[in-house]
Amino acid sequence: MEILRAENISRIYCQNAVSLQALHRVSVTIQKGEFAAILGRSGSGKSTLLNILAGLDKPSEGKVYIDGTDIFHLGEEKRTLLRREKIGFVFQAYELLHSLTVIENIRLPELEANADYVGELLDALGIRQYGTCYPDQLSGGEQQRVAIARALINHPPILFADEPTGNLDSKTERIVIDLLKNLAEKYGTSILMVTHNEDLVKDADRVIRLEDGEIDNG
Ligand SMILES: Nc1ncnc2c1ncn2[C@@H]1O[C@H](COP(=O)(O)OP(=O)(O)OP(=O)(O)O)[C@@H](O)[C@H]1O
Ligand SMILES: [Mg+2]
Repeated sequence: MEILRAENISRIYCQNAVSLQALHRVSVTIQKGEFAAILGRSGSGKSTLLNILAGLDKPSEGKVYIDGTDIFHLGEEKRTLLRREKIGFVFQAYELLHSLTVIENIRLPELEANADYVGELLDALGIRQYGTCYPDQLSGGEQQRVAIARALINHPPILFADEPTGNLDSKTERIVIDLLKNLAEKYGTSILMVTHNEDLVKDADRVIRLEDGEIDNG
């Protein structure tokens, strides 16, 4: 069973009358419960692809289906609702709200979130002691873990993670990857993770290589 299908995604950025093709006819399918990694050099289009697959940015061409729904066929409001229900997203730059505490940030996508589950995530990610702190009081790696907890709070069937361990030491990185893998097993969550780290790629069921905006099948 597939949770995500993307067909022939192209994305052209236009800036100051210059156009740049960041993605060229990329097609990807992710199965329910699958853990896939996207590998590629800086500038190869990884964040652009993730943003489109999660409905945060529109492709210049192509279609994205999440759990069978054509997400760009929906209006903005319905797409937002679908994202809230089906998608978790860990941004490369965390994107935490700085006026909210750690716990408030984590609960934001799911205000009704079960307190036990919030506690479970805080413990699993080793950030329990920062619950009432503000993001500015945390290190980059700690903020990254808050962003991961926030992405998981709504039990999304699919989690997109843009270099979710980019700012973590190798021990914490291991803890986070094991947490993601355990969740995938326990809840059948699909994970699509961008990484530069060849070691982490070994944990994935499948590796998608992106080169200059194209899938490299070679
Ligand atoms: N908003 C934008 N406007 C114009 N060009 C952009 C924009 N965002 C990205 N690009 C360009 O698109 C290409 C792909 O960028 P993208 O951020 O997807 O790369 P990436 O693989 O995520 O890189 P990194 O590993 O450094 O995060 C780059 O050449 C980048 O300069
Ligand atoms: Mg990126």
